[in-house]
Amino acid sequence: MELPREVSIVETGPRDGLQNIQQYVETGEKVNLINALSKTGLRVIEVTSFVHPKAVPQLRDAAQVMSQIQHDSTLSYRVLVPNMKGVERALESGASHINFVLAASNSFNKNNVNRSIAESLEEFRRIVEFAHKKKIDTVSVSISTAFGCPFEKRVPMQKVVEIALQLERFGVDQIILCDTTGMANPMYVRELVQEMSEVINRAQIGVHFHDTRSTGLANIFAALSMSITIIETCVGGLGGCPFAPGANGNVATEDIVNMLDDMGIKTGVNLGRLIKCAKMAQDIIGRELPGQVMKVGPTYG
Ligand code: COA
Ligand code: ZN
Repeated sequence: MELPREVSIVETGPRDGLQNIQQYVETGEKVNLINALSKTGLRVIEVTSFVHPKAVPQLRDAAQVMSQIQHDSTLSYRVLVPNMKGVERALESGASHINFVLAASNSFNKNNVNRSIAESLEEFRRIVEFAHKKKIDTVSVSISTAFGCPFEKRVPMQKVVEIALQLERFGVDQIILCDTTGMANPMYVRELVQEMSEVINRAQIGVHFHDTRSTGLANIFAALSMSITIIETCVGGLGGCPFAPGANGNVATEDIVNMLDDMGIKTGVNLGRLIKCAKMAQDIIGRELPGQVMKVGPTYG
């Protein structure tokens, strides 16, 4: 079987991982975690989101986080944006990589960003136009519920592909297929990636799996077998969405890096340093996280 020799791990812990934590994490602790993650060899870290502070109070300090982290010019500090207002705030904070979010199911999109899919797509069209005039290098989009929706259950693959086609027409750089509540399985992953790659020519495709039903690693392997090279994970297995019942943690970054190391697939990430970050995340939130490698150590470490 052909597998990629190198993959790019996108760390989403500081955003996807923290957004669901009830107890407020002080800005300084978020900044320390991001700074430590920046020294592991990761190239892209999603650091926060510019959403309505009432929607996600935990990330209400997005601008402070952006201004306080040590910016390493070789890294991309991605931020999540739900609308134009979010993009404006992101730009003011100096962000150059934005990640727009919309869902493949209408009820989830409504619940998450208070818009229909058509309205989100129209907003995205305007955002790309705007971003191209400003200092935004990369525009990615997370398609939530791409593998199933907690409200509508099955989401037709054709729907996901249609949305992706529109996004590509508008000029997206990367499309991330997100399994928001862990409903994907490896065969389904292969089929959806196949359908996508038949029509998406320019944008890169990535994947983001929540491990709600313990299928995360198997799903990542299925994506690798289809030549996917962008994988989103959360340090320690943090993760969850306040708008999606059952959105448990993501696949732990250090668990996937350990597996890829063992398979001879390069990530450029230092596993020892990453494990320290996972333990730091655990200390910050004050409870045990699901990541396994931080508990038992690397396979050959
Ligand atoms: N950041 C801060 N404030 C925002 C904002 C943003 N990105 N977008 C809108 N607002 C403000 C508006 O300025 C307006 O303020 P005003 O009442 O003082 O005039 C108010 O919010 C309402 O604006 P509206 O455009 O009607 O927003 P909405 O109420 O329909 O909410 C979202 C839409 C997208 C802002 C909100 O649903 C949201 O933040 N969702 C994020 C969900 C999320 O983070 N999910 C997890 C990650 S996938
Ligand atoms: Zn997620």
